[in-house]
Amino acid sequence: MVLCSTGKGVLKKYLEEFNQIPEYLVQAPGRVNLIGEHTDYNDGYVLPIAIDRVVSIALSAIPESEIRLFSLDYDQSISISLENTLAKGDGWPEYLKGLIDIFKKNSLELFGWQGIMAGNVPIGAGLSSSAALELAFSRAFASVSKWKWEPRRMAQLSQKAENEWVGINCGVMDQMISALGKMDHVLFLDCRSLEGINVPLPKSVRIVILDTDTRRELLDSEYNDRRNQCESVAQYFGVKALRDVSIKQLERSKSNLSTLEFKRAHHVILENKRVLDCVEAIHMGSLEKVGELMIASHKSLRDDFEVSTEELNLIVDCSLEAPGCYGARMTGAGFGGCAVALVEEKYIDKFVSKVIKNYNISTGKKAKLYVCKATEGASVFSKNDFIM
Ligand code: GLA
Repeated sequence: MVLCSTGKGVLKKYLEEFNQIPEYLVQAPGRVNLIGEHTDYNDGYVLPIAIDRVVSIALSAIPESEIRLFSLDYDQSISISLENTLAKGDGWPEYLKGLIDIFKKNSLELFGWQGIMAGNVPIGAGLSSSAALELAFSRAFASVSKWKWEPRRMAQLSQKAENEWVGINCGVMDQMISALGKMDHVLFLDCRSLEGINVPLPKSVRIVILDTDTRRELLDSEYNDRRNQCESVAQYFGVKALRDVSIKQLERSKSNLSTLEFKRAHHVILENKRVLDCVEAIHMGSLEKVGELMIASHKSLRDDFEVSTEELNLIVDCSLEAPGCYGARMTGAGFGGCAVALVEEKYIDKFVSKVIKNYNISTGKKAKLYVCKATEGASVFSKNDFIM
């Protein structure tokens, strides 16, 4: 386990604030999805990576039945009772309240803690800062309350908290990868069975996250619309989810569906196939094929699922023209944020400078590129791990 820079920051602040070493340091990562977009809530397949951008919390148990937490990023302190009924509000504390609510409903015994928190997952960029927050909180509760750490269960409860308390009808991908990520691996996840296989990333390539310097807009309503459109096609076929519809079935029924429904389902069904093909291509060492699938995925998200933006399209084009790039696509829910590219390691520096130059000239914006590492999912360090 590697302690991130935010971890060192919260440890230092905890020492200054409380004049003692915290009992635990928890950290949970954001994610980037290599391929398999908008497939998770259709019971399909995804291929995400836990990235080296995390939420960290330094914390200790307290005798009182409450959570006292200070966010370094927001310069905000909160105190939440574990006994009283919770009221809804705004901002990051809602993720904590949502979890407390869902943990109680699932009869998990909760003990109080005090902590200092910080994160470096860009917010609203499609890199799942919210899942990182949820899994860091879950790991904090699990450590203090002495629960056995069950990553799948915690991911599912975190998703439920986000659906029910925060009101975002997300799928389970982000929470699963933040809980289950493995260093140097992508997670091939079946979102129906929740079975996952860790697939090693080829050593000669790097995953580059390309931040367009735009943030998501209209995401919640557009996201929920897409979900409803997919569900209505599944209903038309009388199946649980689009996972159960073949491309032939869809094509045969084209005239009975609206153009929008056809396009949405067309994306999901072919995207599932692309994930399976991509896993096979990684196993065969065919990076050209992985790249082709990423490019096809982007086109489908742009034209059929209609969740891309001008900036995302442009940064993908800039990537494909830059040296060493096998493929690139938008990543996450869309409507702004980030793209992802697969780049030959030896060309990384040239790739990064070329994309930044071309994108910034065309848009007047400031792209940020992160060459990321695939990291471990939500982790806990105890005193012995971090006393230097
Ligand atoms: C968001 C959601 C995920 C998933 C992606 C799109 O990140 O939280 O569940 O649906 O969008 O693939």
